[in-house]
Amino acid sequence: MKNKEMLCKRSINRILIISYAVLTLTIQGCTYSKAPAAEAVQKDSTAPGLHIEEATADIKGMKGRFNIFFLADSHISKCDDRDKDLITKAARRSILFKKDGINSWDRFDMLIEESKNCDTDIVVMGGDIVDSAMYASIDHVRDRLSTLNVPYMYYMGNHDFEYGAEYFTPLSYSEYLPRLDDMHGKSSYQVREYDDFIIFAADDNNSQVNREILDAFKKEITKGKPVILALHVPIEPVTGDRALIEKCNEVYGENSAKEHQLIMGPDGCVPNSITQEFIDLVLSDDSPVIMVLAGHLHFYHKDMLNEKTVQIITGPAYAGEALKITVK
Ligand SMILES: [Fe+2]
Repeated sequence: MKNKEMLCKRSINRILIISYAVLTLTIQGCTYSKAPAAEAVQKDSTAPGLHIEEATADIKGMKGRFNIFFLADSHISKCDDRDKDLITKAARRSILFKKDGINSWDRFDMLIEESKNCDTDIVVMGGDIVDSAMYASIDHVRDRLSTLNVPYMYYMGNHDFEYGAEYFTPLSYSEYLPRLDDMHGKSSYQVREYDDFIIFAADDNNSQVNREILDAFKKEITKGKPVILALHVPIEPVTGDRALIEKCNEVYGENSAKEHQLIMGPDGCVPNSITQEFIDLVLSDDSPVIMVLAGHLHFYHKDMLNEKTVQIITGPAYAGEALKITVK
């Protein structure tokens, strides 16, 4: 594994260790007024303990509407004797992500139930849904998703397939990632193609994308359909707007974006050549990407990546936050 990649991975791992207290305060206060001017409507859910942001993706000529219910970062940390060695860690992590007395897995259930009240056409789960690849956590998610009457996409964050000290190690990929195969699939990307648009989800969990993702993305963008790109780690805007960086600094500390590799870009995890090619395609003048969805930062943020492409970062599901995107 390359040193640079290892650095990125180690740094990501440090995010939650250093930032729980700050995160808790931030999510509680959730200073949405500091988010850039946005078309999204902040709307309290009818269900107490949840907060669903809404936004629209406009597609010229599209007939009808299509609703995406997007959530990330539920960090479910349920463990039983099948993963004996992780019981202590899981207990500690479950407290970390228990918000206002509600366990992360109960909050996940609440969000899945809420998706059923939102005229949802697909549930997209943008990583860190489980906090480690423990059977009890994975079973919980699978059981809950089995109640959906709509399809779902579940792609990987940086935590879903970690296991104890196995974090982006060869063993985490060979032994623990496959535990999620039935929900995630075996590829590092997922595609849903509809008549009027495409949802392309990529496992950019180590703050880079791989060749498989790049090649698949190149193929999809030749189809002439608008693309909604779903990531875990966000992309750094190229507009010169520093709001996202400043928010990272505010939440995680000065220079956090670079130090902790929170985003993909020059002020975060510096993209390798494959990732840079991917970002260049996403942000090119003729890119079909109309919207980027992401998570990972544990705060809501919306801004423009360039002059025409919006990026919406969801707040964490463990705090009851999610996005409803209406494509129309
Ligand atoms: Fe993450």
